[in-house]
Amino acid sequence: MPEEKPNLDHEHLPTTLGTEFIIKFYRLLKGTMIYDRKNAIIDRLTQECLEVIHRIIQSEGNLFLKIVRDNFFFNNIRIIVKADKYAIFKAFWQEMRRRWIGEVEFSEEVSGEHLKDFIYLLSKLEENNESNYLYVKKQLEYRHIESVQVGRLEFFKDEDIYIDSEDQKKYSKEVYFKTIGLVKEVVESINQQKALNIRKAKRLMQNAVNAIMQDDSTLLGLANIKNYDEYTFNHSVNVAILAIALGQRIGIPKKHLSHLGMAGLFHDMGKTRIPKEILNKTGKLSSEEWSMMRSHPLVGTEIIMRMKEWGELSTRMIDGAFEHHLRYDLAGYPRLTRKRKLTLFGRIITIADFYDALVRPRVYNRFPYVSEKILGIMLERSGKDFDPAIVKVFINMIGIFPLGTLVLLNTNEMGIVIQIQEDPELIDRPKVCLIYYSDGEYRKGKVVDLREMDEGTGDFKRGIVKTLDPNEYNMNVAEFLI
Ligand SMILES: [Fe+2]
Ligand SMILES: [Fe+2]
Repeated sequence: MPEEKPNLDHEHLPTTLGTEFIIKFYRLLKGTMIYDRKNAIIDRLTQECLEVIHRIIQSEGNLFLKIVRDNFFFNNIRIIVKADKYAIFKAFWQEMRRRWIGEVEFSEEVSGEHLKDFIYLLSKLEENNESNYLYVKKQLEYRHIESVQVGRLEFFKDEDIYIDSEDQKKYSKEVYFKTIGLVKEVVESINQQKALNIRKAKRLMQNAVNAIMQDDSTLLGLANIKNYDEYTFNHSVNVAILAIALGQRIGIPKKHLSHLGMAGLFHDMGKTRIPKEILNKTGKLSSEEWSMMRSHPLVGTEIIMRMKEWGELSTRMIDGAFEHHLRYDLAGYPRLTRKRKLTLFGRIITIADFYDALVRPRVYNRFPYVSEKILGIMLERSGKDFDPAIVKVFINMIGIFPLGTLVLLNTNEMGIVIQIQEDPELIDRPKVCLIYYSDGEYRKGKVVDLREMDEGTGDFKRGIVKTLDPNEYNMNVAEFLI
């Protein structure tokens, strides 16, 4: 499979594709109000719209647009409307609202003729008739057009897809713990040579991808929490989450993100063959023990190669397992006899793995590094150990104070970072949930935005003084984040 080109302009992919589709679709709809079906301009507009539809279905697997109130959801992810596109979105929204159509879905088979039939049906609908969608459905059925689906415009049913909803958080949490369960299952099945439920595994990864695309703050937050006990399983899941979130930011198509997640999930498979005494040894490792440790990328590759039921997915998983300690300049291990470039998946997983390994306390590393220090190390080794372009995106994603960081403010208040500002200039001014101690336990206080200024003095109201270790305060950060 050819390697995907990373798109490093920090574009939000669903927004880009959704915007492109809406513009072409709206132009075509406008065209039908002026020209008749045989006009050459309609032909051209139809072709342009069709091209976008096919391209999107090719890369994303589907094209589903849903309007809820005045929000547009593209493949279930809310489109962030850019300022220069606001007018066209508003005009399109008015047209759809007038017709009470709130959902449009295309499948791969859609042709120019289907699209034309559909757009003229849409164009000629009565105004303000709530059952318009039923009429369109019937007409499409009558013409044997199965490649287009429509739905009614709904004004009040947005709770289930609304981004900040508690449900979304619950869902993300469920995905996280289910994924840990999956890794355990896989390890067990390999140890006992049982068959694996690949379908289930793939579905779960797809869910993780969806959850991350919808709201990566909860999953990234979970991945940042340092006091879970089962290191190996958590590490695998965290690497998968970090890799997916990073992959999304550099523009890897959704279809491949779940493969990337699987590759992250199983990158350390080879460690299941290393005795626990060595894995958890606090003292110095003998040279024999070291070479055993360093064999895990190769051992992992072998294990995955034997998992024949994974099909084409296993190639991607092998990239992750084999390459994650190789380093960008190939100075790592295993030693290669023939030099070759790391794959994109390998480069992403290396970064996710390095970060997660250092951020967590372990038997031999009781005091984890705070992330500012880790990010510093990564920047220093960028170009040697890590792909410099991807490191930049990663640092932006994590922020100096990642989600879930316990911080001390200059007001002597304590808080937990719950949202990072989108503007990289304000990376040190996240939103923080204040924590206070009363009746023998820590409690959630109000949420403050560290960008807030004091109007009297013109200074920021609050700022971060330093990060704190939640273990020292006997605090379970997860409780405050979820
Ligand atoms: Fe490893
Ligand atoms: Fe690892």
